[in-house]
Amino acid sequence: MSEESNERLVRIFRKPTGPIRVEGPVDLTDPEGNKIPHPPAFSLCGCGLSQRMPFCDSSHKNEAQKA
Ligand code: FES
Repeated sequence: MSEESNERLVRIFRKPTGPIRVEGPVDLTDPEGNKIPHPPAFSLCGCGLSQRMPFCDSSHKNEAQKA
């Protein structure tokens, strides 16, 4: 794979604390297919506690502190 093609790859990974990090050009849509505006890199909520779904709002940190 060439360096040029690597630049176009989207990187998606789950952080150990819960958020799902997305880096690269993607279309994020709601269940009806409407595009959801987002920055080039963002975190999706993977814990279900965010008040601004589908994005992480750091609510997972509060839950981790309770444990
Ligand atoms: S992963 Fe951060 S609020 Fe859910």
